[in-house]
Amino acid sequence: MKIRKAIIPAAGLGTRVLPASKSCPKEMLNIVDKPAIQYIVEEAVKAGITDILIITNRGKGVIEDHFDHSFELEAQLRAKGRNDTADELAALANLANIYYIRQKETKGLGHAVLQAKEFVGNEPFAVLYGDDVIIGEDPAIAQLCRASEKYEKSAVCIKEVPTELVKKYCSLKVEKLEENVYGVSDMIEKPKEEEIFSNFAILGRCVLTPDIFDILSRIPYGAGGELQLTDAMREIAVKEGMVGVDFTGIRYDMGNKLGIMKANVEVALNHKEIGEDFKDYLKELVGGL
Ligand code: UTP
Repeated sequence: MKIRKAIIPAAGLGTRVLPASKSCPKEMLNIVDKPAIQYIVEEAVKAGITDILIITNRGKGVIEDHFDHSFELEAQLRAKGRNDTADELAALANLANIYYIRQKETKGLGHAVLQAKEFVGNEPFAVLYGDDVIIGEDPAIAQLCRASEKYEKSAVCIKEVPTELVKKYCSLKVEKLEENVYGVSDMIEKPKEEEIFSNFAILGRCVLTPDIFDILSRIPYGAGGELQLTDAMREIAVKEGMVGVDFTGIRYDMGNKLGIMKANVEVALNHKEIGEDFKDYLKELVGGL
């Protein structure tokens, strides 16, 4: 079944990027000239997704403003002859049908996803984590949707990461199916060293069926006292199996300071307006280190 709905959880506290995220949601932190969440919405749209629910909470109203018209600003730009910029801003308001719901208490990613039950209804849907930007020719979520449709299973984006990161993320039990697609038969959130299945971890994207909501409604809170999406997906992996796609594209973790800097440097180097100048600047800077 063609996937046309996506949810973007963006209600986390972002404590690892304080004080930047104190009054600006971390999902709104810039990569050069666009907030992280815009890259994510654009990826979903490029993959054919038409309806997006963004999970927000208090203090995240600027996300709604960003994807709305700013008539005054657009009119002023047009009055100054800057029609291209005005068009670009106007297009932002028409990217997709974007809806919002608040997660009233920050009780974890699983709890955030649970807020989307009514929106999702009875069809498979995509989840794109609000602080995970993936840049590549072929949208990561499109790669995931194709694998999910082909194998008729729920799917997760995966990558092999260093053991230190596996312990912070999760670990997957995998078995190779083809080139970059794996069967996933078990998983554990924030494993101890002896619990690690493999260095494959879930990174920022999944395709799920509405069955996940029943599971999320009955499982206990897990690691860190939060309702963990991984714990719910584990039931599906163990019972039915899932697929993992070792996606193409570069992923930037906008939830930590180093990730934000890497994203900005690499995107700036390829930016059509400032790329060349930035490269010259960087060469000079690096030469002096
Ligand atoms: P993180 O695991 O990075 O959590 O969330 P966090 O709370 O935002 O960050 P730190 O650890 O305090 O720095 C991954 C994604 O899930 C969303 C976040 O907004 C982020 O996009 N999330 C997390 C929610 O929507 N609700 C939650 O309760 C937790």
